[in-house]
Amino acid sequence: NKVVLAYSGGLDTSVIVPWLRENYGCEVVCFTADVGQGIKELDGLEQKAKASGACQLVVKDLKEEFVKDFIFPCLRAGAIYERKYLLGTSMARPVIAKAMVDVAKAVGADAVAHGCTGKGNDQVRFELTFFALDPKLNVVAPWREWDITGREDAIEYAKKHNVPVPVTKKSIYSRDGNLWHLSHEGDILEDPENEPKKDMFMLTADPEDAPNEPEYVDIGIISGIPVSVNGQELSPASLLTKLNEIGGRHGIGRIDMVENRLVGMKSRGVYETPGGTILFAAARELESLTLDRETMQVKDSLALKYAELVYAGRWFDPLRESMDSFMEKISETTTGSVTLKLYKGSITVTSRTSPYSLYRQDISSFESGDVYDQADAAGFIRLYGLPMRVRAMLKEGI
Ligand code: ARG
Ligand code: SIN
Repeated sequence: NKVVLAYSGGLDTSVIVPWLRENYGCEVVCFTADVGQGIKELDGLEQKAKASGACQLVVKDLKEEFVKDFIFPCLRAGAIYERKYLLGTSMARPVIAKAMVDVAKAVGADAVAHGCTGKGNDQVRFELTFFALDPKLNVVAPWREWDITGREDAIEYAKKHNVPVPVTKKSIYSRDGNLWHLSHEGDILEDPENEPKKDMFMLTADPEDAPNEPEYVDIGIISGIPVSVNGQELSPASLLTKLNEIGGRHGIGRIDMVENRLVGMKSRGVYETPGGTILFAAARELESLTLDRETMQVKDSLALKYAELVYAGRWFDPLRESMDSFMEKISETTTGSVTLKLYKGSITVTSRTSPYSLYRQDISSFESGDVYDQADAAGFIRLYGLPMRVRAMLKEGI
């Protein structure tokens, strides 16, 4: 039998290869997804996997699918977890796990394995996706089973099994990166009183060092989905890549938060989401033109639940899928463009326009128009305030 392992080439996943062979007696097919994390030596990776004992390495470029089918729907929904988190890691797990299920089918594997710890969200996200897409697959999570506890242990295990120990020195932070974001956890961040060190950040300039000149950027959106930057149409992944460059330069999109993990504990994380932060600002701004009050309220309240489902790994849950249909419908007219000014970590909206704008200058203007008759307001206010008047009358004995 065969197992497909989510493989990064790092020490942790390298050690899993001989461990699976030893403990499950199976062939190991390593799988690496390119979700824009910046895989350094792709050729070296296959040799590395094989040197660890894998029979095969499969690499898939999931960047366009990731942005188009996972990131953009969350953006359209306005999904933000616990007021701040733009869900970068949460969205990546289902696209990777889905590809693993496909690989398992293709190579005839009956099991899948991942290198997530038993304390985090990622294990849940991987496994719920496996359940949803192929309930027959067996799931192996070595970190929940073995007695390798730390890095030293892992190095020792690697040496004993002739697994080449990756030369790249392990960062002190636990990081997860993709086209949408880079997360940092662990080390000094574990104390929420500590300010992150300046040299920890990798996608964004320190706002204090960002250019002294602001930069304008124009985002084109069709039905809630971004399609262009400064008038240039781009594929989903290249659009995001471009905005990461622009936003990163100006120190946009740093988030520092303490969040509630699905498994119950709180954890402190720092995220860099430069392009994503720009896109959220643009999409929400466009909605100020295209959605009326009640529609916006209902959308925002559902966005909370949508984000919670994504965070919890329930991407392939019919509840999220149904809510996505709602988001698609309600965003039909969210089309237009928004201009933003980026300056030392801040985003200021300077312009918004839409062919479906509900804003009417001829109605709103302080100059008089004919659609809105100010005299109507008197009756409106009397009726709107009737319950308040009745209550006050009661109090006064009228
Ligand atoms: N706390 C974030 C989340 O749950 C980021 C997790 C980062 N994952 C990792 N394996 N380092 O989505
Ligand atoms: C892990 O435990 O694999 C990383 C943290 C998380 O999943 O939230």
